[in-house]
Amino acid sequence: MTNAPVSVSGSGSPGASAVAHLVRGPLVLTAATDEVGVVAARLVADHVRGHPTGVLGVATGASPLRLYAALAELRAEGLVTEGLTLAALDEYVGIDPGDERSYHSYVVRHIAGPLGIPESRVLVPRGGTQRDAERYEATLRDLGGVGLQVVGIGRNGHIGFNEPGSSRDSRTRVVALSDDTRAANARYFAGDADRVPSHAITQGIATILAASRIVMVASGAAKAWALDAALRGPVTADVPASFLRTHPSVTVVADDEALRPAS
Ligand code: PGA
Repeated sequence: MTNAPVSVSGSGSPGASAVAHLVRGPLVLTAATDEVGVVAARLVADHVRGHPTGVLGVATGASPLRLYAALAELRAEGLVTEGLTLAALDEYVGIDPGDERSYHSYVVRHIAGPLGIPESRVLVPRGGTQRDAERYEATLRDLGGVGLQVVGIGRNGHIGFNEPGSSRDSRTRVVALSDDTRAANARYFAGDADRVPSHAITQGIATILAASRIVMVASGAAKAWALDAALRGPVTADVPASFLRTHPSVTVVADDEALRPAS
């Protein structure tokens, strides 16, 4: 059986249209750029309605911001989110959780706060040792694992901070960030890639793939190469996001620019 993605052209409005999932592989929904987050939020909300006290896996970065804002709007319309536990994918090593550039701060500011979730149920990996990594794995395991996991995609094909070369069976661990990722994140560090931490602690590929359901959001031409490689190229550690094709329940919500095949 192939792992070819099912591609669905978005013709409905607003957002995407869907057809049956005919072959195994990610369901790909196209949406207008400003609707990517809204469409993805609806998928997350459907899951949250069935698992109001479950563990929601969250990604940081620019891509899912609109998704979280749309979820907060759904909360205002009655979606119950206060009972969720949030579990982040990754964190910089050497940045204090209270630092506004930390992913801990991001999750509190952009997700937990607007969704009414107390900080005591915000889980973010922390520290720079293997022991710290194992502790995070144990925390997730003790909670029964992640229900739905939101992910973005790095322009080099990373998911979480699993940079090219990350193996399918990797677990939470401390990793060195690639030059490309540090350059991409320089915008949060006064435009200076050298100020971006050199290391991070990240869920591994196997950790991410243990979630019951995965929703990826991607928009813009900067993601076209990575998304093309992840969806249409070989399943390989060179493109860590390609491993999502080994998961039975992945939905990608992306705009036309991100979905345009790389030339
Ligand atoms: P971005 O990051 O959403 O800020 O583009 C995505 C990622 O690196 O996973």
